[in-house]
Amino acid sequence: PAIPTALKALVLGSGAWLLGSGLSPSRSQLSSPRAVEAEVTRMFKDFMIQFNRTYRSPAEQQRRFGIFIQSLVTAQQLQETELGTGQYGVTRFSDWTDEEFRGVFQSHPPPSMAQAPRLPRGKLPTSCDWRKAGAVTAVRNQGMECHSCWAFAAVSNIESLWNIHFHQPRNLSVQEVLDCSWCGAGCNGGYVWDAFTTVLRLRGLTSEADYPYKGKTEKCKKNDKPSAAYIQGFQTLPEDEEEIAAHVASQGPITVTLNSAAMKYYKRGISQPLVKNCSPDQLDHVVLLVGYGAGDSVVKITLTPLCLSLRQLTVVNERQFWIIKNSWGDHWGEQGYYRLYRGRNACGVSKFPVTAIVQRLGAPGSKVHCPS
Ligand SMILES: *[C@@H]1O[C@H](CO)[C@@H](O)[C@H](O)[C@H]1NC(C)=O
Ligand SMILES: *[C@@H]1O[C@H](CO)[C@@H](O)[C@H](O)[C@H]1NC(C)=O
Repeated sequence: PAIPTALKALVLGSGAWLLGSGLSPSRSQLSSPRAVEAEVTRMFKDFMIQFNRTYRSPAEQQRRFGIFIQSLVTAQQLQETELGTGQYGVTRFSDWTDEEFRGVFQSHPPPSMAQAPRLPRGKLPTSCDWRKAGAVTAVRNQGMECHSCWAFAAVSNIESLWNIHFHQPRNLSVQEVLDCSWCGAGCNGGYVWDAFTTVLRLRGLTSEADYPYKGKTEKCKKNDKPSAAYIQGFQTLPEDEEEIAAHVASQGPITVTLNSAAMKYYKRGISQPLVKNCSPDQLDHVVLLVGYGAGDSVVKITLTPLCLSLRQLTVVNERQFWIIKNSWGDHWGEQGYYRLYRGRNACGVSKFPVTAIVQRLGAPGSKVHCPS
């Protein structure tokens, strides 16, 4: 029943987005509902092949097809209202309802906590990317059955800080954080601060090799294996994107909690959804902020003036963005990364910045340098 309505929305949406996504033959071929339905059916078949989907009954397949169309409509709306250069389309979540998506990736809303002192305002480097220093471990995949983004982000944060301050690469155990979580959250989803509290209580974290990821909560096995890294504590940062950038540039990657609504459809580009499409008050996903940048982005606008000749207008404007490491595998987004508009608290990115404190004993506050 939802299908005809959704199809109508796709037709009304002019099909321009389908064209832009390279998924559709031509605009004129999308002029009738029947043509759109044929096209969308083809897209769904491609989707099933690409993401290896089998449904247990024809009825279930029909239901998923309806959700898929609804996802196309949402992606199209995001695309048509996009203020940045973000591109949205079919992803592996396209046949998931919003409830299912939130169910897996949801984290709890953050509590209030004491904040780190503000850094002295110096001149902020225009860009910073800790990946270029080799300080960010490979993108991992939390899997479909475990709400473990909070643990992945926290562990990534510790791995990066350990690398930056001790110049030792580490792959650390997310599973240990899940199994031994102080609040007992595990795969049910938790707070990023619970991960840090857990690491403090365990007096360090075991390596991934010694305590590998299972994607489900098991019994805490703190064993005789040595800890591979330690933290001295953790802190929240001011809710201010300048401060956050200054901290990232001078100290290293940090965790942030954001609204993942646009991420469900994100493919590439600098994402800047309308506030109503990505409320800064509904934080549900924890990720690692590994740097930031500013780039001139060229937006081509095609005008059809009265004289009927097509003209292209090129608009150049500077866009500031955050570079965000996600935990949905490296096939998602830009090789596992998300670029999000920086400067307007997009999707609530600045609301809950938290980081572990990792310091070389005897050398607190040692200078580190983030590659630009
Ligand atoms: C595809 O899904 C089936 C059943 O869910 C599974 O057994 C198979 O390993 C999957 N193949 C790939 C390539 O993921
Ligand atoms: C960490 O994991 C990556 C990818 O799995 C691997 O290539 C790398 O060698 C590992 N590093 C360490 C220090 O174990």
